[in-house]
Parts: sequence; structure tokens; C-alpha cells
Amino acid sequence: MLIETMVRSAWRLFIQCVDRARQKLHGITRWQQSNSLLIESPLAEASEYYRLWNKARECSYPTVDHYERDCEAAIETAWFHQLALLTQVVIKRSDLCYQHGRLLYATLVQYARKHVREHLNIVETGTARGFSAVCLAKAMHDAGATGKISTFDVLPHDVKIFWNCVRDADGPRTRADLLQDYSALINRYVIFYQGDTKQELAKMTFPRVNLAFFDSVHSHEHVMAEFSSINGLQETGDIIFFDDYTPDLYPGVVKAADEICSTYGYGKNIMIANNQRRYLIAEKQ
Ligand SMILES: C[S@@+](CC[C@H](N)C(=O)[O-])C[C@H]1O[C@@H](n2cnc3c(N)ncnc32)[C@H](O)[C@@H]1O
Repeated sequence: MLIETMVRSAWRLFIQCVDRARQKLHGITRWQQSNSLLIESPLAEASEYYRLWNKARECSYPTVDHYERDCEAAIETAWFHQLALLTQVVIKRSDLCYQHGRLLYATLVQYARKHVREHLNIVETGTARGFSAVCLAKAMHDAGATGKISTFDVLPHDVKIFWNCVRDADGPRTRADLLQDYSALINRYVIFYQGDTKQELAKMTFPRVNLAFFDSVHSHEHVMAEFSSINGLQETGDIIFFDDYTPDLYPGVVKAADEICSTYGYGKNIMIANNQRRYLIAEKQ
């Protein structure tokens, strides 16, 4: 038993070394610099992630329930939490709250019902493990919509890393591998782009951006830069969903979102999940 454990640990160490050497060879160290999501090794046993998951599932969010009723759209609860276990349940100081997934789903389903037979372009900045992109893909599928979700992150899709998630105990893996159970949805709807959104979004040539979800760098300057790439590509009723519209924690996001809404004519719907998590759903007037 002891020997078996030692062999397994040595093998895991060997695989990590080989992977790191391979990554260095491919010159991918740029995105590794100062990314808070990146970790060197698993932060906890799988059982700890399950404990956090069970705690998170007990919380109730009446404002989000209410919004779902208004939209007449609600993501399947079991499916939602299963995805969150893989992609949202992490070790961090603040409480877990991943209600933006429910809000994004309800918002997009409601939007898609009003835009039947149109090709929808959805843009997301900040893919991370893919939680919000997959919630958006589920909305597209359930609404019977056609279109694509273009999601951007400095993190790569096909390089093995630790994700600070329940699967880390089995070794590093690619995002593609992490999201394998959702590959049918992803292949149909999601395109992953790697790079800084300030450069990558500016290169895109979308004819229209029906819904944008801004969730990468939470500074005034960065949100304004992301907006400048989609400015002019939205029509009445189109949406920008700002994550972390929380004045005490992210004043830059709030300042940028308010400036965008007042200067470029967006109506504001502020959603408060709890003290730490607020969102702004802005609709082009
Ligand atoms: C809050 S997380 C996104 C969470 C994700 N939307 C979700 O709901 O699961 C922010 C992400 O932005 C990425 N990021 C940080 N700076 C970036 C940049 N300049 N360009 C693109 N992505 C960036 C980080 O790597 C991280 O994965």
C-alpha cells in the first residue's frame, strides 16, 4: 500500500515535470505571469471541493429566482450545480457565489425568444474554466437559437494546468479535457480565443454583438477598452452583462459601466445576489 502510494506520487511528479518542460518549450510562459487563477499544484483534496459545493448549493437567492420568473427561463438546477462543481467551486477567501450563470442563462433565453431565426453573436471576456460560456451555450441550445459564443482569455484551451478545482487531484488537464462532458454543447456553440482581450477583441469583425459579457480585468480602463471594440455593434434591445458591478470591491467596473450606460444609451437593471456579488444587465435603448 505504502509502496503503491509512493510510486503514484513519483509518477505524478514526473508527469508534472514533463508537462512543465513541454509548456516552456512551447513558449507559453507569457500568460503564466501574474495570473491569479494559475496554481502550481492542487490546493486541496477533492473532498474539500465537495464540502464547499454542498455549502454553496444551500444558499438561496430570491432576487435571482425573481429574475428567472420575469424572464420565464430558468436553467436546470442539477445540471447547473454539476457544471459549477467542475468550474466554479474553488478554494478562495470570499464565499462562493456563481449566480451569474443563472442570470446569463435567463437573459439569453429571453433574448433569443425575441430574435428567432437570427444568427446570434455572443462575446465573453474572461473564460476561466468555461462556466459562463457553457451556461450561455446551454441557453442557446434550450432556446433553439443559432449563433456562436466567442470567449476570450489569456489562458490557453489546450495546455494542461491545474485549475483549482475538484479534478486537480487527478493531475493537470486542459480546459478542453475539463469540459469534456459538455463537448457537444461546446462544439456547437463555443469558440475559444486565447489572448489579451484588448488586442484580440479589437481584431474581430462581428457584424453585430447581440450580447456581451464582460468578466476579465475589473478595471475602468480595461472595461472601457473592451467596450470600445463592440461599440457601434449593438442595436436596440442588445445587451451588455457586467459581472462584479459591486462598488466597494470593483469601483472601476461600476465607473466604466455607468459611463457606458449614460454616454451610449443603455438602460440599467442592477441585480444583487449578495453583498459581494452584484451584476449589471444593461440594455441598449
Ligand atoms: C473572473 S474570471 C472569469 C470567470 C468566468 N467568466 C466564469 O464565469 O467562470 C477572469 C478571467 O479573466 C482572465 N483574464 C485576465 N486578464 C485578461 C486579459 N487581459 N485578457 C483576457 N483575459 C484575461 C483570467 O485569466 C480569468 O480566467
